[in-house]
Amino acid sequence: MIHMRNVVLIGFMGTGKTSTGKLLASRLGYFFIDTDNKIEIDNKISINDMFAQYGEKFFRDKEAETIRKVAEYHSAVISTGGGVVLNEDNMIALRQNGIVITLTASVDVILERTGRRKNTRPLLKEEDRRQIIVDLLENRHELYQRADLILDTSELSPLQVTDEIIKFIRKVDELRA
Ligand code: S3P
Repeated sequence: MIHMRNVVLIGFMGTGKTSTGKLLASRLGYFFIDTDNKIEIDNKISINDMFAQYGEKFFRDKEAETIRKVAEYHSAVISTGGGVVLNEDNMIALRQNGIVITLTASVDVILERTGRRKNTRPLLKEEDRRQIIVDLLENRHELYQRADLILDTSELSPLQVTDEIIKFIRKVDELRA
């Protein structure tokens, strides 16, 4: 029974949700779902084009629709988009059957990691990427605090982050057993 629940990764862009999520799923023997990827496949359009053609509100609606679906899954690692926390209904649904883990990183690390794949993140397209990151982080800070575990990934590889998460999950399961 305790192995039925999901592990949900939330956090800002560039904190390693997707790379860590993949490793974590394979270590736990869980399914892996990246909600941004699912939105792109289900709607047959990239997130970038969705923002450009239909705007952010349209994307947020699709995101909420996807979250409602994946929150029903069991034994899945669910990596989410950085803005998933903006909609409280998303978080209520995800928490119902999931441990929620926030990944964080310093502004410098986020700047560096999100700069590697240019143009895949519509919110970071403008000139002053650092300032945009600082502002968005400030707006979302409180929302990212609402998690079962918060892990700073600035100095850690996805493998190390995965190990930390597995240690935490084992502890939770021992306490529940
Ligand atoms: C967003 C983060 C992106 C993606 C979209 C919006 C955000 O996901 O969902 O561009 O609002 O922070 P990643 O966190 O996986 O980059």
